[in-house]
Parts: sequence; C-alpha cells; structure tokens
Amino acid sequence: MNQHANLPPIPFIDVASQRRRLGRAIDDAIARVTTHCQFILGPEIKTFEAELAKFCGARHVVTCASGTDALALALMAKGISPGDAVFCPSFTFCATAEVVALVGATPVFVDVEADTFNVDPKGITPAIGTAKRLGLRPKAIIPVDLFGLPADHDALAAVASANGLFVLDDAAQGFGAIYRGRKLGALGHATATSFFPAKPLGCYGDGGAVFTDDDTFAETLLSLRVHGQGSDKYDNVRIGMASRLDTIQAAVLIEKLKIFPDEIAARDRAARYYAEGLANLVVAPTVPAGLTSVWAQYTIRIAGGRRDQVAAALKAEGVPTAIYYPIPLHRQQAYKHYPVGEGGVAVSDRLAGEVLSLPMHAYLDKATQDRIIGAVKRAVSH
Ligand SMILES: Cc1ncc(COP(=O)(O)O)c(C=O)c1O
Repeated sequence: MNQHANLPPIPFIDVASQRRRLGRAIDDAIARVTTHCQFILGPEIKTFEAELAKFCGARHVVTCASGTDALALALMAKGISPGDAVFCPSFTFCATAEVVALVGATPVFVDVEADTFNVDPKGITPAIGTAKRLGLRPKAIIPVDLFGLPADHDALAAVASANGLFVLDDAAQGFGAIYRGRKLGALGHATATSFFPAKPLGCYGDGGAVFTDDDTFAETLLSLRVHGQGSDKYDNVRIGMASRLDTIQAAVLIEKLKIFPDEIAARDRAARYYAEGLANLVVAPTVPAGLTSVWAQYTIRIAGGRRDQVAAALKAEGVPTAIYYPIPLHRQQAYKHYPVGEGGVAVSDRLAGEVLSLPMHAYLDKATQDRIIGAVKRAVSH
C-alpha cells in the first residue's frame, strides 16, 4: 500500500483561496452593480478598461465577452476575410485558429519551439510560401504566449514587418507577463486576452479584452462589440457582435487586478521552487533572458512514452495533472483540412505526447509543492 495515497487531494487551481483573500471587497463590488443596475456597459467597464491600460501600457483597452471574442473582434476590425492566410501555432488552445476560420479566413499552422512551447518565428517565412502556393493572401500572425510565457515577439515583429503582416498577440494565458521591458498588451498591433476563471487574471464567468495603440482600430472595436453600431445606437454601419464584458465581471476584475502583481510574484516563487525540486528529474520549463512568465500552467516534459504512466501515478497520490494539449490542432477533425506550413509541425506532435501540467496557482504553499515534487520523483523513478 502506497503510504502517500491517503493524503487529501490537491487542487489543480485554487480559486477558493483567492476568493477568501478578496473577501468583502468582491461582495461590495458586486453589490454596487446590483444597486446601480447598469448591467451592460455600466461605469465599472470604463474604470476597469482604464486600469488595465495603466497596468500594461496599452493606449486603448476594449473589453468584451470572452477571450475567443477578443480574438475574433480584432480579426474583424482588421478586415481579415476569405482568401486571407493567418499563421498560428498548431500547439495551442483551439480558439486561436477557430476565430480565423470563423471570419472565413484560413489558418496556416506553424510549428513551435520545444523549449518555450511558443511559435517558431523561423516557421513563418516557409508558411508564407505555402499560403501563396495555395493562392491565399498572407495577412496576419497570431502568436500565442503559451502557458504564460511571451512568444519571441521581436523576431515575429521582424518577419511580420518584412511581409506586411498584422500581428495579433493571443495573450489569453500570458497577460501580465513581461517581454524585454514591455508588458504583454503593449506589443504587436493588437493583443487579445481572456478572463476565463482559470486564467491568471480571471473573473467569475467569461470575459475578454482587446488591447491596441491604434485609435481607429479601437473605435472599430467599440462599434463591433455592439452590433457594429454607428454614431447612433440604431444606425449600424458594419456587421458586429453582441460581445460586452458584463458590468458585474468588470467589478470583480477591478478588485482582482489590485492583487494581480502580488499573485504574479507568488506564481513565480512557486515556479522557482518547482524548478529547484524537479531539476534532473524531468524537463522543467525555462524562461529566456529578459522575459517573465505568469505561469498560467507549469508544464513539464516527460519523454520516452512515459507521460501517461507518470500522470496515473501522480493521480494515485492525489496530485492532479492536466495535459495541455493532447492533440495539436492540425490533427483535430475541425482543423485537419487546413494547411500546415512547409517545414511541418513535428515539434507540436512530439510535445503533445510529452507535456504534463502540474498544479499551479498563487496560493500554492511549499508543503504542498514538496508533496507534488516527491510524487513526481517516485513516479519517474519507477
Ligand atoms: C491560448 C488561448 N486563446 C484563446 C482562449 C479563449 O479564451 P476564452 O475561453 O475566454 O474564450 C484561451 C482560453 O481558454 C486560450 O488559452
């Protein structure tokens, strides 16, 4: 009998501890909204957008109903349409490519780098060739700051500007992270993020935002999120969506943003503790010089086809894990007919069989981490 099997289960993400910490502040914030009753685009929306802009240094922030909508609204504002090719990694959450297909354009899959999990800038030029051969117009790149780590934005900006491509950063997992002195949100032509509850900055439902420094683009986003409205509410000048962040969620997020820097620091401490404890046991994630991660996930790699066995051993000890992502997009039914850029996506295929995410949140204490590290040690040495 495994003496470690009877310990209480560990949460993968601990939203409840954060809720306890925020206490009355959240109750009062929600009560203010239920008192003034402006549930759609109430005053908290503008306040939160201004706070977010201040936090990351973007000129404009337009909140919306989800991270997926944030990506879609940005593509719509840019006029991405059928016949356009949009380059994105295959090793990501489906929404990154889904929005491209939703606006009628074609996602072209590019491989990622094994050590950062992020799109390989060297894959973009060959993929542009692939798109052109297929008769598509290369229009945009959607890099993803996967697991909280910024993509190689300078290299991507260089290839984008050489080829006239629009860069929409998918910072759904990375918002709050820093790339060479700049916070995500202030990089690329536009950035999208998600406030899904499990995200580093999550709300109590769905929510998202688009960031941009471009005044006209921001105006278009404001129109698009309310059915493409013009200067008069009932004069619609374009096809849009009903995609607003709920005022109650903005009220929640205003309170959460206050503790976000402290939570990012706590996540980073937990990541460092994992790195020390797991050194030489598994391939631990690395952070390139000049970058920070917000550790949306702490994802280790276990090669040799042993990942699932290790996950099962951890589960038996009450340590939850998750696999982000078991099937790269180019292999999924909904996406497999879309092109893969020349050069292929071999790293994405390999990572899908090796990655394993461990519990990660701002309230992870050392005792719990010691238990997790011990369980990993036992699992990999079997
Ligand atoms: C990389 C990435 N892009 C987009 C999204 C979509 O965000 P949402 O779930 O808020 O629509 C998510 C999160 O789920 C994500 O992880």
